[in-house]
Amino acid sequence: MLERNHFGGNWTEHKTSILETYAKQFLTVFKNQPRQKLLYFDGFAGSGDIDIKEETDEEESFRTIEGAAVKILKVDTPRAFDMYYFVEKNKGLAKSLKTKIDSEFPNKQCFIQASDCNEKIKGLSKFLRSQGGKTYKALGFIDPKGMQLEWSALESLKGLPIDLWILNPTSGANRLLA
Ligand SMILES: C[S@@+](CC[C@H](N)C(=O)[O-])C[C@H]1O[C@@H](n2cnc3c(N)ncnc32)[C@H](O)[C@@H]1O
Repeated sequence: MLERNHFGGNWTEHKTSILETYAKQFLTVFKNQPRQKLLYFDGFAGSGDIDIKEETDEEESFRTIEGAAVKILKVDTPRAFDMYYFVEKNKGLAKSLKTKIDSEFPNKQCFIQASDCNEKIKGLSKFLRSQGGKTYKALGFIDPKGMQLEWSALESLKGLPIDLWILNPTSGANRLLA
């Protein structure tokens, strides 16, 4: 049985659609530069689908929507990314994502790692640096549910060619302020 993320509501759909719009604009910048390699990195990727809670006064009900990973994989116009790297620490969720990608996007170059995002951000930074910061340009999406993102991981990306979206969970930040 494949596991799936359960969280969010209507705002989750807005979130993924805003990300999709940004990704298309990012890809537009490079649409006439086919030799420029583009990498998409998602540090908290989830299972590919999300069961969101419906806003209704009646019994609790859920609706399944596409997660950010699937939304981005579906983008082929103005061009697609050349490589996709997904990190999801929960092994069951990572396995579901891999199953979905293998069946729906067999021709895209994807790596799915059941691992900690911070380690993989540091790995990404080494990879981008090893290319002299030129071969790949990256778009990164960091969407934690809590305070898992470490400053040292972010710092490792300093000076590298990456546009990074970080969604900051304000509930966790507020708790820490106290
Ligand atoms: C808010 S959800 C991300 C949802 C995803 N962006 C989507 O659109 O479906 C956060 C995910 O991060 C995973 N996670 C939690 N801690 C992690 C860590 N240290 N490294 C990588 N993934 C982690 C959780 O299992 C969860 O699936």
